[in-house]
Amino acid sequence: MQVLVLGSAAGGGFPQWNCNCTNCESVRQNREGYTARTQSSIAISSDGKRWLLCNASPDIRSQLNATPELWPNTLRGSGIAEVLLVDAQVDHVTGLLSLREGCPLDIWCTPNAHSDLTSGFPLFNMLSHWNGGLHWRAIGLDETSSTIDFDVPSCEGLHFTAFALASNAPPYSPRRGRPSNGDNLGLFITDKTTGQSLCYAPGLGQPTEEVMGYLKKADVVMVDGTVWEDDELIRTGVGTSTGQQMGHLALNGQGGMREYLATLPATTRKILIHINNTNPILNEASEERAVLTQEHIEVAFDGMRLTL
Ligand code: MLT
Ligand code: MN
Ligand code: ZN
Repeated sequence: MQVLVLGSAAGGGFPQWNCNCTNCESVRQNREGYTARTQSSIAISSDGKRWLLCNASPDIRSQLNATPELWPNTLRGSGIAEVLLVDAQVDHVTGLLSLREGCPLDIWCTPNAHSDLTSGFPLFNMLSHWNGGLHWRAIGLDETSSTIDFDVPSCEGLHFTAFALASNAPPYSPRRGRPSNGDNLGLFITDKTTGQSLCYAPGLGQPTEEVMGYLKKADVVMVDGTVWEDDELIRTGVGTSTGQQMGHLALNGQGGMREYLATLPATTRKILIHINNTNPILNEASEERAVLTQEHIEVAFDGMRLTL
């Protein structure tokens, strides 16, 4: 299995266009130790030719330009064979608009995400005007099932499990603030040939026992690194929401993500993804970043490539 990190930042990216927090200012000024990041997306492949795009970020155009594996090799084409959405949030779906010239496109997502994307943010409806638009491939997570197994045609040799995450539904969803199974999912992907597995969960509000089960059996975990402190947006003065209200578990503090990661087997490769621009770990010289290094926790960057 091959994994490409197209975008490692949370919604807004790094720097965020209207933010002048210390991090955003520093990366704009090219200060040492700060690296720009685009919004949340990875791609997965078993043959290195056909890729499953996991989340279509608003930054997709620059992400594709920076990634030769995804360039067309016929007059019109793309390395992107299919798309999977882990939720219906702006930072994970808006890039579908930029893929309109490649419709029809198969889109894997849950009934909840599909419902938001045909109402509050009606991308399916809009794109139906482009050559067949988006073809929904249902990932059947709902109130009756919190986990589901499936195979993706373009990723022969890989096996997918989607599991429900307690996070949050988008602001334009009727379920905002009271999410249910299917509003956010994590992926557990196994390569049937190598036996290696990846657990990908960029939005993770609450690592339940079931979720921890998937994290514990993965060789590589790529998990929610949105904020260091739960009240980080408030402390830095850029917002009023806590990490928990947005559906993201903070890295630091009692019951924080680092504590959960510390319970994983010593051999597990631990990578943080979906990093918000306020997070002090984006300063490579920060104390917080040194703590991560000490705990063998990596921070994903755009262009990171993994082979499992
Ligand atoms: C989130 O994960 O909460 C989103 O990144 C928010 C957004 O994109 O506006
Ligand atoms: Mn997000
Ligand atoms: Zn900022």
